[in-house]
Amino acid sequence: MDYKSWNAKTKEWYIPDHDAPLKFIGNTGNLIDWNKVIVSIETKEGIVLPKLIWPNPHFEEMKKLYVDSNYIMDSAKWINYYSENDYHEEINSMFGEFVNKPRYARAWISRINPGKTAPWHWDLDDGEEEYLKNGDLLRYTCRISPTGVGQVAIVGNTAIHGGLAGDVYLWPDHRMWHGSVNAGLTPKYQFNYLAYA
Ligand SMILES: [Fe+2]
Repeated sequence: MDYKSWNAKTKEWYIPDHDAPLKFIGNTGNLIDWNKVIVSIETKEGIVLPKLIWPNPHFEEMKKLYVDSNYIMDSAKWINYYSENDYHEEINSMFGEFVNKPRYARAWISRINPGKTAPWHWDLDDGEEEYLKNGDLLRYTCRISPTGVGQVAIVGNTAIHGGLAGDVYLWPDHRMWHGSVNAGLTPKYQFNYLAYA
């Protein structure tokens, strides 16, 4: 897989090691009441994505991939929720303590409704250059919806399906290409945590 990402620190394109395995860290189900978190956000608007106009220097390149592949953009939709507006910041802190990385650059909950996808991408982030001044970054993901049936998260060449709500995985590289599909019958909710190493 030769999909390249931009390293904002070295100012170079590189191909992340997409064969590198994700690391299973543990389960947060006993620590955080994820169902309660979901109930608190499920009727909120959140931020609906993708945005199709974005003045990020690398966005047009990524958008071209979708145009060239005839990606059905009507299928692409996910919703992000942030502690600033949608859920208690304490959730981020508790998660940070669990993974033993209390300092973080970003944390959010992403939702994909049945039938929708997050197309293949790496996480463009306008803030990355600033984040990297504070340390290297580690990306954790955690499916929090009660059932994972039909809900697939793909990171590099690894697919995560099933498992338990609250299972936490550490990515080998936060710039790996990834995507997600909800072919299930209930919304897929995932907690995302970009920590300082
Ligand atoms: Fe992403």
